[in-house]
Amino acid sequence: MIKEETLKNARILIVDDQEANVLLLERLLGMAGFTNFVSTNDPRQVLPLFTKFQPDLILLDLMMPYLDGYSVMQQIGPRVPEGAYLPILVLTAEMNAEAKQRALSSGAKDFLNKPLDATEVLLRMKNLLETRFLHLRLQDQKHLLEEQVREKTRELEDARIEILQKLALAAEYRDDPSGEHAKRVGELAATLARASGLPKAQVEMIRLAAPLHDVGKIGLPDAILRKPGKLTAEEYEHVKQHASLGGRILSGTQVPLLQLAEEIALYHHEHWDGKGYANLEGQAIPVAARIVAIADAFDVMTHDRPYRAALSKEEALAEIARQRGQQFDPRLVDAFLRWHKRQELPKRLRETILAS
Ligand SMILES: [Fe+2]
Repeated sequence: MIKEETLKNARILIVDDQEANVLLLERLLGMAGFTNFVSTNDPRQVLPLFTKFQPDLILLDLMMPYLDGYSVMQQIGPRVPEGAYLPILVLTAEMNAEAKQRALSSGAKDFLNKPLDATEVLLRMKNLLETRFLHLRLQDQKHLLEEQVREKTRELEDARIEILQKLALAAEYRDDPSGEHAKRVGELAATLARASGLPKAQVEMIRLAAPLHDVGKIGLPDAILRKPGKLTAEEYEHVKQHASLGGRILSGTQVPLLQLAEEIALYHHEHWDGKGYANLEGQAIPVAARIVAIADAFDVMTHDRPYRAALSKEEALAEIARQRGQQFDPRLVDAFLRWHKRQELPKRLRETILAS
């Protein structure tokens, strides 16, 4: 139920061109304990008053000069928020069925015949206000529930992303305990995805899925993964299995992000010319895997490894360019090189180009 106090504090707007009627209603409301009402006998003032006062209930005369009650309701209609319940109680001398229908379709919720009966006015007002406040309460609860659902969805999404990051870290742990390589590959792959014109949502998916590219390394024995020297041909074959192993770990899911991670894990060692691990070629290699192939190679080259020192950025870019059309997708190599070149341009020059 709605508290009596809430009802008595309701904002009520009285509209009647007859001064005597307005006074009568004001006196009636005052005596009944209502504290928050404004009135006008100029229907042209209703719209500004409505906007300023935001009434919970309107007591509205129908027959008025300049603007009749129907026109007032039509003016107010678009200002009532969607889904809101704003009661309008029409006060009128006489009403035939047609006028009633017209009033109802214009927004009236109830009618009272003049001369007004004080008890009836107050009872109808109470009913309409109760409905109004119950409606507001329902809306508040709905918004609260929606917010809670949004919050829970966010939490779930965060948890899912965190689990992916932990999984990527677990995969990297023996190779790079900080997990920085996986993270950098995620960021770089997202940069390249954006530079190559992929839509924003896909770029974000790639940022999250790319760090899992080497998740299959979990299944490689230490003797191979941590071997300081060069690998034998047989050991190298073993290392190559990390792609299919990663694919297997991430397979069988309905979650699009994990499906993407599976694709990347499976195919990030494919070569554009078909000479990669699984001999997939060109466009047959999923684009996310083609992107990660470049990001992974660039990051590996530009960081120290146990068996060699890091290459400079320029040397690594030259190597990527050399592999254009062989190991890497030529279009993506172009986008990657273009992006790096753009980073080198002084800021002002870049702004001039963008503005032109
Ligand atoms: Fe790999």
